[in-house]
Amino acid sequence: MFPSNIYELESRAREDNPYLPQLGRIVRRVPMVEDNYLFLVRFDDPEIGDSFTYKPGQFMELSVIGTGESPISISSTPTRKGLLEFCVRRMGRNTNALYRLKDNDIIGLRGPYGNGFPVEEMEGSNLLLIAGGLGMAPLRSLLNYALDMRHKYERIILMYGSKYPEDILFRDELESLESREDIECLLTVEQAYDLPDAKPWHGKIGMVTDLFKEIDNIDIYNTYAVACGPPIFYKFVIQELLDRQFPKDKILMSLERRMECGIGKCGHCGIGYKYTCIDGPVFTYWDAMNLPEMID
Ligand SMILES: Cc1cc2nc3c(=O)[nH]c(=O)nc-3n(C[C@H](O)[C@H](O)[C@H](O)COP(=O)(O)OP(=O)(O)OC[C@H]3O[C@@H](n4cnc5c(N)ncnc54)[C@H](O)[C@@H]3O)c2cc1C
Ligand code: FES
Repeated sequence: MFPSNIYELESRAREDNPYLPQLGRIVRRVPMVEDNYLFLVRFDDPEIGDSFTYKPGQFMELSVIGTGESPISISSTPTRKGLLEFCVRRMGRNTNALYRLKDNDIIGLRGPYGNGFPVEEMEGSNLLLIAGGLGMAPLRSLLNYALDMRHKYERIILMYGSKYPEDILFRDELESLESREDIECLLTVEQAYDLPDAKPWHGKIGMVTDLFKEIDNIDIYNTYAVACGPPIFYKFVIQELLDRQFPKDKILMSLERRMECGIGKCGHCGIGYKYTCIDGPVFTYWDAMNLPEMID
């Protein structure tokens, strides 16, 4: 039968072609830190918007027409219906093209892809969330999910390290958690200078690994430690966790690799016998240690 409207036509074409993106509209761009915007996006088709679901830790392919696609983690939480949020750092061709777009412009959205964090399996456990730099982008989805589902988790501890106070993503949002009783929110920066127009920093100075000293009496056997950050960050954070005897299969990491298709077809993101796009991006340390190239 002939499709009755443009959305039905698109939906039929998509069944034949998984690479065809949905149309999304930029509702707002919020400057975060230097070269970093939070894009608030909605689907152009309200029906797709209403039925769309995802898990914390999943990513989507964001495309700019005529430029290309980039995998970007979903920073919002599925517990808050409405806009999807993507925290994007300007890197190269596609992310620069994204930055040239304005509010109300159209982008392409494919996904959600990847395994995401095992939020159900983690229920009843402590969550130790450890982020470095841009690693806060995927972790924010899990953090807000767990806060919205507070009764399902035991202790929630966030440790987040940035280079300077001006680099802290979601700074106001995270600082507002510091006064809450139901989460231990520990923020640190490597260095702080009192820049004239910048918000002053009265918090901790040191590496994210220094924050381990601040958490006491944690039952390591009932804790999922979730780490997300740049490659060098994993080296030191994982070592701290291993020194404290955290079980290797309860240390989770969200890893990045160059991707093309995002759906396990092109082989670009392969590491050993795993594909980061479909077997990850979330891996346990147990998986990673058996695939030596997984963490540098
Ligand atoms: C699962 C996943 C989730 C991601 N989530 C986010 C996110 O939330 N926010 C965000 O800003 N970025 C995220 N990224 C990284 C983002 O996809 C890349 O920065 C982006 O694709 C760069 O595209 P580009 O066309 O702008 O740059 P390109 O022109 O393709 O590349 C610019 C430079 O970035 C390097 N580069 C590109 N992709 C990667 C990568 N995956 N890892 C390391 N170096 C890379 C290239 O080697 C090159 O030096 C994620 C990547 C993955 C795989
Ligand atoms: S990105 Fe193509 S197989 Fe993973």
